[in-house]
This record gives sequence, structure tokens and C-alpha cells, in this order.
Amino acid sequence: MLPERVTVVEVGARDGLQNERRNVPTEDKIAFLDLLSESGLRCIEATSFVSPKAIPQLADAEEVFRKMRKAPGVRYPVLVPNMRGYERAKACGVEAIAVFTAASETFTKRNINMTVEESIAIFAGVVARARADGMWVRGYVSTAFGSPFGDVVTPEMVRDVCVRLSDLGCDEISVGDTIGVGVPTQVDELVPLLTDVIPLERIAFHFHDTRGTALANVYAALQHGVHVFDASAGGLGGCPYAPGATGNVGTEDVLYMLHGMGIETGVDLAKVRAASRFIRSSLDHDLTSKAFQALEAAQARETRTA
Ligand code: HMG
Ligand code: MG
Repeated sequence: MLPERVTVVEVGARDGLQNERRNVPTEDKIAFLDLLSESGLRCIEATSFVSPKAIPQLADAEEVFRKMRKAPGVRYPVLVPNMRGYERAKACGVEAIAVFTAASETFTKRNINMTVEESIAIFAGVVARARADGMWVRGYVSTAFGSPFGDVVTPEMVRDVCVRLSDLGCDEISVGDTIGVGVPTQVDELVPLLTDVIPLERIAFHFHDTRGTALANVYAALQHGVHVFDASAGGLGGCPYAPGATGNVGTEDVLYMLHGMGIETGVDLAKVRAASRFIRSSLDHDLTSKAFQALEAAQARETRTA
């Protein structure tokens, strides 16, 4: 049942950089995105048109989106929390958006100051507008395996929110383990519930690696035929509204595993690594992707012995 080909959705420039303490210069974000665009990735989340009070790290969304190079055939979704964000994005020439809610009420309130129901009502308008404008739309369902605030999340609750977003007209639903608590048996339980009501082709998974289970969860989802996975270069990221959440599963880690399993992605791991190496120089910490670290160490050893 393993897919022959997987689409990796790169979220480092958004999910990663939204969480950095140090101010990352706008030109570095643009250069990072431009390097990612050279790697063969077909979907690269660029930035967020959210309130700059909520996420000051991405307050430069307009400039980033306008100046970054758009490679032919590559989709560059941006996060949009409301109609205001949609208008800002559209004015910059955005052609793909992502709306985002969650299975947990507390998380949704802290993240976007709405109840889940209110968020669906807001997104109904946004998604209808986006579709009328010919845009591609992704819907995120966060906290699918647990909430940072302790409220109970069941697979049925996740399924129900996924269906609500799907019914609004989202082309793809990304199911997020926002705080990296999920384990493969939970993935085994959730995927069939989802594919009963949403076509497999429209389901993506978004794992954070907070407790080291992300690649195991990717493998579990692969066994059910899931073939779209979010990842961030170098393992950048976290979530400012999810205390303790660390980065997304590293793009290099996912690529290393998939390529080793003979699964095609069309992405050049060395080029993603070059993008990660570039952005690392703008950060005040090292990158967490194991494959990135191992490949860098191997290259340093080769350089020393040459
Ligand atoms: P609010 O305070 O309830 O809304 O925020 P508001 O309408 O009262 O707006 C507050 C201020 O923001 C106002 O400015 C608005 O004009 C302005 P003021 O009058 O105070 O000067 N504003 C905006 N400015 C620019 N663009 C906009 C916009 N909207 C309002 N679009 C709101 C509600 C949703 C706006 C806010 O809470 C918000 O922007 N939240 C975004 C949070 C966020 O980006 N979180 C991280 C992404 S989600 C995530 O990481 C999870 C994911 O990776 C999946 C996973 O891991 O599971 C996707
Ligand atoms: Mg995330």
C-alpha cells in the first residue's frame, strides 16, 4: 500500500520562521524561499497574512511575497486568518491560501481568538471568495492528536472539523500534530476515519517532532496510502500558541527516509540542505533535523580529510 510518489509541502518559511526569537531580515527570508524554489519542491508555504500583533515575525508578508521568485509549477500558499488577510494576500498576487482552525476549542481561542464554530463561519466567506477568484485552498486542522491546554481531542472530533473544512471547498486538508504528541497507532486509527469521509488524495499530515515520533507517524500514514506530508527545512519551527511545541519534522529527514525507501519526491535533498544552511546563519540556534546534522557532519569530515 506504500505510495510510489510523495508530495512534500515545505512549511519552514512560515511555520518555522513564525516562531523565531531573533528577527530574521526580510531579505534572508526571500533568499531562503528562493533557494527552496530551486530544490524541486512543488508546494512551498511562503508566509502568513495574519495580524502583525499576533505574529510580528511575519509582519513583512507583503514584501516577502512580492519579492520572492515564483518558480513555474510551484504553488506558494500563505496563511490567511480572515477576510482582511485574504484581501492583503490577493493584493500581492497570491494564488493559494491556507485557512486554519483546530480540533481543540482552547487552542483555537488562543490562536485565532475564535471558537471552532466561529472560525468555520469566517472561513466559509474566505474560502468562497478564494474559490471564486480561482485560488487553491488548503485547510489546517491543528491539535489533531492532543491540545497543549489539556482539553480532550478525539479522532471523531478531528474528523468532524476536517469534514467541515472540506465541505467549505478546501482542496486539501492538512491534519496537524501541533504539539508533537501523536504516536503511530493513533495515526492508524485516524486515517481510516478520515478516508471514510474525505478522499485520500485530499488528505495531508503535518507532524511536529516534539517527542521524536514524527517520522514514525509519517511511516504509519504512508502505510495507509497518505502521500502528502508537511515538513520544514532543517526542522525549523514550533507554534507560538502551543507552549513546548518544537519544530516540524525536518524536510531533510522526510526526504532521506522516503528516498531510502525508494519513494520518489522530485526534491533534491542537497538543495534543501543548502537552503537550511543559509537560513541557519540568520538564527540564534542550530537546526534540529537529524539528516541535516548528519550530512553536514559528513561533509565537514570530508573537507578536513581532503
Ligand atoms: P483579534 O485580536 O481577535 O482580531 O485577532 P481583531 O479583528 O480584533 O484584530 C486585532 C488587530 O489585528 C486589529 O488591529 C486588526 O486590524 C488587526 P488594531 O485595530 O488593534 O490596530 N488584524 C489584522 N492585521 C493584518 N492582517 C490581518 C488582520 N486581522 C486583524 N489579517 C486574528 C484575531 C485571527 C486576527 C489573530 O488572532 C491572528 O492573526 N492570529 C494568527 C495566529 C497565527 O498565525 N498562529 C500561527 C499559525 S497556526 C499554526 O502554526 C498551526 C499550523 O502550523 C498547523 C499545526 O501545526 O497544527 C498551521
Ligand atoms: Mg505547525
